[in-house]
Amino acid sequence: MGLYKFKKINNEKVLIYDNMKIKVLIDEKKLRRRVRELGQEITRDYKDRDPVLVSVLRGSFIFIADICREIKIPVTFDFMAVSSYGNSKVSSGIVRITKDLEFSIENKEVIIIEDIVDSGRTLNYLVKNLQARNPKNIEVCALLDKDVPRKTENKVKYKGFDIPNKFVVGYGLDFEEKYRNFPFIGYIENEQ
Ligand code: IMP
Ligand code: MG
Repeated sequence: MGLYKFKKINNEKVLIYDNMKIKVLIDEKKLRRRVRELGQEITRDYKDRDPVLVSVLRGSFIFIADICREIKIPVTFDFMAVSSYGNSKVSSGIVRITKDLEFSIENKEVIIIEDIVDSGRTLNYLVKNLQARNPKNIEVCALLDKDVPRKTENKVKYKGFDIPNKFVVGYGLDFEEKYRNFPFIGYIENEQ
C-alpha cells in the first residue's frame, strides 16, 4: 500500500502497487493526444448540430471530462449508470440500469461516451435501450476497443485505441472499484 511508484523492468514501465504488478499500456501523453483528436473529429462532424453527450458511469468519468473540453461546440450532458452482473473481470451480458438519464433524448442527437467495449453486450443493450426513446440519431465514442471475438456488430464510430484482450485499469477503469485514478491505462500482469 502507500504511494505508487514506477519501476523500469526490461525497459518496460511497471507499477508495483497494492501487491499488484501493473504494466503501462497507454501512457498519459498518448491518451491526451488521442482524446484531443477524437474531440476534434466530433467538433468537425457536429458543427451546427446540438448533441447531448451521454456518459456511462462510472468507468467513463475521466474520459468524458477530458474529451468534452476538446469538443469546441456547445454540448449538453447526461449520465447513466449500468451494472452488469457477474464476477469482477468477466461481464455477464446481463445489464441493469442503476441510474437513468435525467432528460428526454427524443429528437436529440446522442453521442454515447463509453470507456471500453469488451464483449459489446453492455453497449448493445444501451443502444437498444436509448433507441427506443426516439432520438434523432445515436453515435458511439469509445476510448478502448478490446480485441475479442464478437458476434455483435461494432457500433463504435469514434474509437480511441484498439487494445489486446487483457483486463485493463486506470483512466476511469477499475478492478474491484480500485485503480480508476491512475492517469494511464495499464493491465494487471500478476497478483503477487
Ligand atoms: P462488455 O459488456 O463486455 O462490453 O463490458 C463492458 C463493461 O465492462 C465496460 O463498460 C467496463 O465497465 C467493464 N469492463 C470490460 N472490460 C474491462 C477491463 O478490461 N477493465 C475494466 N473494466 C472492464
Ligand atoms: Mg466496471
